[in-house]
Amino acid sequence: MMSILTIALCITFITSTTFDLYQICDCSQLIFQYDCLSASLECNWDYDNNECYDKPCSEIYYQNACLKQLKRCYWAQSSCFNFTSCGQMLESKYNYDCQGQNYYCPQYYQYYCLSIKDVQVCPSITDPDICNYYQSLQGICIWNGQSCTLAQSCTQFFNNGSSNCPWEYCQHSWDPSYQQEFCSPNQYSDLKTQSQCAQGIQILGPYLQNIIGCYWNPIVNLCQERVPSQMNYANCYLYSRGTYYWNSKTKENGDCVPCSQFQELLIISIFITILI
Ligand SMILES: *[C@@H]1O[C@H](CO)[C@@H](O)[C@H](O)[C@H]1NC(C)=O
Ligand SMILES: *[C@@H]1O[C@H](CO)[C@@H](O)[C@H](O)[C@H]1NC(C)=O
Repeated sequence: MMSILTIALCITFITSTTFDLYQICDCSQLIFQYDCLSASLECNWDYDNNECYDKPCSEIYYQNACLKQLKRCYWAQSSCFNFTSCGQMLESKYNYDCQGQNYYCPQYYQYYCLSIKDVQVCPSITDPDICNYYQSLQGICIWNGQSCTLAQSCTQFFNNGSSNCPWEYCQHSWDPSYQQEFCSPNQYSDLKTQSQCAQGIQILGPYLQNIIGCYWNPIVNLCQERVPSQMNYANCYLYSRGTYYWNSKTKENGDCVPCSQFQELLIISIFITILI
């Protein structure tokens, strides 16, 4: 019992500091009208029934909005299409940016985007060319000279001859006083605009659970850390990458809660049951 509690507490801790893109809200979960209208690029509000529903993929015109519908849509050829599987995506033969098509298809490999079910773990990769920047579920892989390992820090990408700083997760900079390039972790202070701030900070891993939330503090005009449970009706959905929603139809009586908390607890309890 104690260990179950510990596990539950750990999970609560994890979800309260990083966003989980596996938990992006479905339109139907946005019961608070303001949330649905915030998601108006990918959801519609039904004024008769007071509920939020999916926009057809073909009517989603922006990549970011299309990607937020990862369970049902993907982005290719500047349009949003119905998603069936990673292998069926139109452009996958030519477009290396698989994550830019659907987050469930994170890695390009031999003319296809691999599904999250098919990506490898770093140590099983033996070819350095495939290893470097490979998106495993645990994080980004890097070749250390002998084998493929999970990258632990941004600075590692500037060692051992590999010198591409993975821009989604790290910051590439030039220090004039040292006459040297650096690859360092992203920081809140680097996010200069409200829309950048709303995206949060991406760290190296684990994949899709690697976004640290922040919010725009209007008093000091800076991007700062904030856990979603502290957010209010106005910034809950917007500053959680669409993974939290306001669980009330009014702004007064609600909380900012993750969209798939129940599902996650269910999976954990199944997992615990298996362990026992
Ligand atoms: C896409 O999916 C929607 C909803 O399931 C369906 O109504 C529509 O016909 C599909 N469109 C195409 C082009 O398959
Ligand atoms: C760089 O490569 C050497 C061997 O070639 C290895 O011993 C070392 O651990 C590597 N460094 C990093 C940071 O991966």
